[in-house]
Amino acid sequence: MKYAVITGTSKGLGASVAKQLMEATYHVIGLARHENQELATAELPGSYTHYQVNLADLPATESTFQNIIAFLKQKQLDELLLVQNAALVQPIEQAGKQEMQHLADHVHVNLLAPMIITNLWLDAWRESGISLVMANVTSGAAQRSVYGWNAYCSTKAGLDRFTETVALEQAELGTDHKVFLFDPSIMDTDMQGEIRSSDRTQFKDVEQFKDYKKNHNLRDTDTVASVLVEKLVAPERIKNGEYYSVKDIFR
Ligand SMILES: NC(=O)c1ccc[n+]([C@@H]2O[C@H](COP(=O)([O-])OP(=O)(O)OC[C@H]3O[C@@H](n4cnc5c(N)ncnc54)[C@H](OP(=O)(O)O)[C@@H]3O)[C@@H](O)[C@H]2O)c1
Repeated sequence: MKYAVITGTSKGLGASVAKQLMEATYHVIGLARHENQELATAELPGSYTHYQVNLADLPATESTFQNIIAFLKQKQLDELLLVQNAALVQPIEQAGKQEMQHLADHVHVNLLAPMIITNLWLDAWRESGISLVMANVTSGAAQRSVYGWNAYCSTKAGLDRFTETVALEQAELGTDHKVFLFDPSIMDTDMQGEIRSSDRTQFKDVEQFKDYKKNHNLRDTDTVASVLVEKLVAPERIKNGEYYSVKDIFR
């Protein structure tokens, strides 16, 4: 059986990736704080199972993944995908004006949870003979500094370096595992709505992002998901450690 575990499936890119993998006969295990009724009731060749979890809560994240791993260990696994997509852009604010708890939640969801999950995942399947495919969703913000996005730029840059380092380790260990980065560029999701609702003192480029929406520059998540899913269903086309962008396909 083909299984895919995806974080952040309640909406946005994660929901689109889940739906398209279900169309491609994968059994999807999705995680988020909110459920996704559309996926849960969809009549598609694959199935959907939801695990409700707050990824800012690290003990809850660890025990949820231990439960998922115990469930998957009872299955005959032909393929196993892990897509770490969940993230938040908040707090959008200059350093010096942020709440400690907001910063802690941000780093937990965007960076520490993916690190903890990767660690559990690699440990769980070490002796299994399964070739793992792990995609981490990044952002152009990993590679440039944006006024007001100091948290987001930092955690996405950290995720990039973490992913590249894990890829290097797996290559040197001689495993067949593949871990790669996927940059979806700008998409029409709630995250963009949050960005547009910040004010200029928090986020200097807010007018530019309002224009992206006004000028229909934001891609829809189904289009972006199709680029990632095309890779995920053909692991032989994935290079361990690669940086893959939706812009490689759509200019
Ligand atoms: N939108 C863009 O233009 C853009 C651009 C570049 C990169 N990205 C990246 O693309 C990915 C998807 O973004 P999106 O635009 O689809 O975002 P979105 O619409 O805001 O969805 C975010 C997903 O993450 C989940 N999530 C957030 N906080 C969580 C928490 N504490 N615990 C569990 N799940 C949590 C949300 O679920 P719940 O709220 O139900 O928990 C939701 O399912 C992210 O990694 C983002 O950084 C987005």
